[in-house]
Amino acid sequence: MRKTLLFLLTSFSVFAQNQIIPAPVNYEMPKSSFGTFMLDARTSVDATDDNPDAKRIAEFFANTFIIGSQKMVFKKVTTPSFQDKAIIFTINKTPDAQLGNEGYTLEVNEFTIKINANKPAGLFYGIQTLRQLMPAQAENKDFQMGLYPIMNCKITDYPRFGWRGLMLDVSRHFFTKEEVKSYIDLMARYKFNVLHWHLTDDNGWRIEIKSLPKLTEIGAWRVQRFGHFGNRENPKEGEPATYGGFYTQDEIKEVVKYAAERNVTIVPEIDVPGHSMAALAAYPELSTKKDLKRYVNPGTRFADWKDDGTFKMLIENTLNPSDEKVYEFLDKVFTEVAALFPNKYIHIGGDEAYHGYWEEDAGCKALMQKNNLKNTHELQSYFVKRVEKIVNKKGKTLLGWDEILEGGLAPNAAVMSWRGMKGGIEAAKQKHDVVMSPTTFAYLDYMQGDPSVEVPIYSSLSLKKTYQFEAVPDSVDAKYILGGQGNLWTEQIQNYRQALYMTYPRAFAIAESVWSPKEKKDWDNFTSRTESHFMRFDAANLKVSKALFDAIIKMKMDGEKLMCELSTEMNGLEIYYTIDESIPDKFSTKYTEPFEIPKGDVILKVVTYRNGQPLGRSLQIKRSDLERRVKK
Ligand code: ACM
Repeated sequence: MRKTLLFLLTSFSVFAQNQIIPAPVNYEMPKSSFGTFMLDARTSVDATDDNPDAKRIAEFFANTFIIGSQKMVFKKVTTPSFQDKAIIFTINKTPDAQLGNEGYTLEVNEFTIKINANKPAGLFYGIQTLRQLMPAQAENKDFQMGLYPIMNCKITDYPRFGWRGLMLDVSRHFFTKEEVKSYIDLMARYKFNVLHWHLTDDNGWRIEIKSLPKLTEIGAWRVQRFGHFGNRENPKEGEPATYGGFYTQDEIKEVVKYAAERNVTIVPEIDVPGHSMAALAAYPELSTKKDLKRYVNPGTRFADWKDDGTFKMLIENTLNPSDEKVYEFLDKVFTEVAALFPNKYIHIGGDEAYHGYWEEDAGCKALMQKNNLKNTHELQSYFVKRVEKIVNKKGKTLLGWDEILEGGLAPNAAVMSWRGMKGGIEAAKQKHDVVMSPTTFAYLDYMQGDPSVEVPIYSSLSLKKTYQFEAVPDSVDAKYILGGQGNLWTEQIQNYRQALYMTYPRAFAIAESVWSPKEKKDWDNFTSRTESHFMRFDAANLKVSKALFDAIIKMKMDGEKLMCELSTEMNGLEIYYTIDESIPDKFSTKYTEPFEIPKGDVILKVVTYRNGQPLGRSLQIKRSDLERRVKK
């Protein structure tokens, strides 16, 4: 009993302020009372007028959110009381215009919680908010308290954008069907509604296409390699391809249904004409060289990059746009893909297609001459326009990365802007729909903390920068911006827990950028809420990055002196450091201003504290590494 009391007291203090991510449009606490709803297994769920949609959502909640070890029951509650509490789901008879299709209202009183919405999606989001009003311990399946206090409040909430996405690359790292479902489950809790499923790339073809069985018999498998992606060894002669996997069409249907139950729609991506090594391993005749000795790339160095961002491929990974067989192939692929995914869009990739092999190919040259195509950008545009016709014929709209602008945009295409915002701006100016997912704010594969403690990759993106994501640039008509998304590429991701680590908390920042009103954004308040969600992840045994607590190290030269500047993204932390090899703690030198790293075999060691308690990870970096950072 004493434990219960202590728990309740802590919960009250933590929940005296709302911790909801993404921040709701409007949250009010009753001024005169600190009333609380005590959620326990005696709480019933109910649907006004037995509305079947409301009932379905109510039952979904009762089945997925177990209290202690018990389920809530579906029951009419005529006179709510402490013994007989109810969560009542209502589909508005007269739609509330400001709520739209995904908004909701949520009202918590002592004995009732009322969730109202125009559509089931809104009720679903009301549940997600309700869940976040409960203490973090409610996320722990093994926590048997079975009693969760929820402070009285009144919330009105609806999204800023209709496209709130995350992209998951399942080619570089293969995630099982269960992992994909789990990823969807979590994204839905933060009110994302689009999973962009990157199903094909150089390193694996992951979707069963029944009319083209070799795509998965051969294209889904590569030799097993470890170590940094991009530095791996080529397959040896006769070496079996044992790493990989794919989703059967039945599994895809299961995932699509699972997502739909969580208001997540899935946009499949078949990345062409570039990024096609896995497809070409299965059907080499679709390349210009038609060489038969091909394999699914296990993460070898496949290109030489130049400083200006251009590259030369060392292995052909493009489909041949001058070969009719390629369009027949794509017709088969998109026929089956279109039938599996109810979403309006099919993403056809279009990014980073290397044109070097096309430039040398007699068939491509002849096609260019015949169609008066001035350069290979126009050849790529020719390809995309033909693919668009195929996709449109299947009743779908083509979506592609911003390279599809080059050489002329296909007439009905939507553009996903990744090389910054400029592609999106250009497409919107041409009156095409746009999804913003720029590397500068939304690339979740980039390192979020100090490189010394992260899995190395070529770029960084901090939580704070991610939080500055704004999908509508001043210069464009907002009506063309469908929304935004974060992209999780998985070259340097080894397992599902690492995928979560890279996604969260930056996905919180993206969620807030695409759901909450722009004026609600507040960094200090966001970091405080983020911290409370760390507790939820911890309670649920989900991995999350706490790089937010770490020190940030910036190096520069002042004449001959190597100078070090330390800071933190989160306010209210103290930084302590040593340069004498000792392990720093709060009795070490407290950082106040830039200092010199003396010459010699010196190691900088840094820690952060808050209110006398250690907080961030301990960073330890040799002078020689610090020096290298200056040159960048
Ligand atoms: C991309 O990052 N190549 C879209």
